[in-house]
Amino acid sequence: MSSGFKVSVIGLGKAGLPLAAVIADAGIEVIGVDVDKQRAEDINSGKNPIPEENGLSELIKKNHGKNLKATSDPIAAAKESNAHIVIVPLFIDESTKKPDFSIIEKAMENVGKGLKKGDIVVLETTVPVKTTETLAKGILEKNSKLKAGTDFYLAHSPERIMTGYSISRFREFPKLVGGINSESTEKAFGLYKKFANPVKVSNAGTAELAKIAEGIYRDVNIALANELLKVSEKYGIDFWEMKEAARHQYCSILEPGNVGGHCIPVYPWFVLNEMEAPLIKEARKLNDGMAEYYVKKAINIAGKGKKIGIVGLSYREGVKEKAYSRAFAVIRLLRDKGYEVYGIDAMYNENEIKKEFGIEAIKDFNKMDSIILMNKNSEYIGKLKKMRNRVVDVKNTLK
Ligand SMILES: NC(=O)c1ccc[n+]([C@@H]2O[C@H](COP(=O)([O-])OP(=O)(O)OC[C@H]3O[C@@H](n4cnc5c(N)ncnc54)[C@H](O)[C@@H]3O)[C@@H](O)[C@H]2O)c1
Repeated sequence: MSSGFKVSVIGLGKAGLPLAAVIADAGIEVIGVDVDKQRAEDINSGKNPIPEENGLSELIKKNHGKNLKATSDPIAAAKESNAHIVIVPLFIDESTKKPDFSIIEKAMENVGKGLKKGDIVVLETTVPVKTTETLAKGILEKNSKLKAGTDFYLAHSPERIMTGYSISRFREFPKLVGGINSESTEKAFGLYKKFANPVKVSNAGTAELAKIAEGIYRDVNIALANELLKVSEKYGIDFWEMKEAARHQYCSILEPGNVGGHCIPVYPWFVLNEMEAPLIKEARKLNDGMAEYYVKKAINIAGKGKKIGIVGLSYREGVKEKAYSRAFAVIRLLRDKGYEVYGIDAMYNENEIKKEFGIEAIKDFNKMDSIILMNKNSEYIGKLKKMRNRVVDVKNTLK
């Protein structure tokens, strides 16, 4: 039986492609749209451009050319579908922290040009509160000459996946849906019911803030862990042992460390750009400052030595993603202090390390005067354990 929906997923990245594949696998026709032609061609030939994503290759193999087709023609895709899910990135400027809406604007403009009466548009990209009912609505109405909420429906449903585990997380996590009016909420709920576990909230703004709040919750709690790490150090107490000892129903201290990636360090700015929020601001500052904290430790270990290695360059282990990786801050700080910086990451080969991070690859661990083990890159544990006294073990990976 037909689902009644033909869905276009706009943006086939680490979040959009697993989503498109899950929808297709539920028996619904999906047209994936990406400006990257090669990516669309790869998907159409059954190739998975994100091989590290668990379970994705199987879903693409099974559904490509059938329920899952990809294109780089956004307007044709919009005309052909009646449900449009936008999941393109939203970057913030590194220094001003202001979001750059141009990608979302372009994507909405294209959807608007193909929009028809009765269609539903869902924005899944995490955005500042009210973006759906102001910016998205305005662009869609202008380009379609239709009225949001009556001629077509518009909702927000934040993507809550975690790269590498997107498919399992997608199936486990409740999918929040909030429309710009109740008709939009109902329509979006009906769509997601076909392939996910949707939960209605009162409006689009609630869905937007719920996702931002998740990021802020993590950021603030990691900041607390980072501060407690320093407190433990003052008293000569092993933080990791203390963290476990403190654990009970009402206390679960997170892991300290650098906070990178395009979620947790980004979303607090969606609030901080709009209002004073001292706790959120201080947490952001504290977490950003951890790069310097670990650099100081590495320099201390290196003594007179000048070669410092970074193990783990991606913002997180197992993910090939350099956006907002704190490795960049560590590299910059070390270089400013006159150190030779080397790096290694299981996700990047030697040339990529040079090209993407501007540093030489570590060839011989023994030649490093000290090493910062940024995340849980398990591939190098054996080697690093042998030189444990030269390693700053950020995540207690060597135990
Ligand atoms: N990756 C995650 O873990 C994750 C988790 C939760 C939420 N999200 C949300 O998903 C959004 C996208 O993240 P991602 O990780 O998929 O990004 P990504 O960089 O992996 O992929 C984005 C894709 O969008 C494409 N694109 C850019 N402009 C386009 C346009 N105008 N039309 C069509 N395609 C376009 C790019 O070519 C790219 O393939 C994030 O901004 C975030 O809000 C991501």
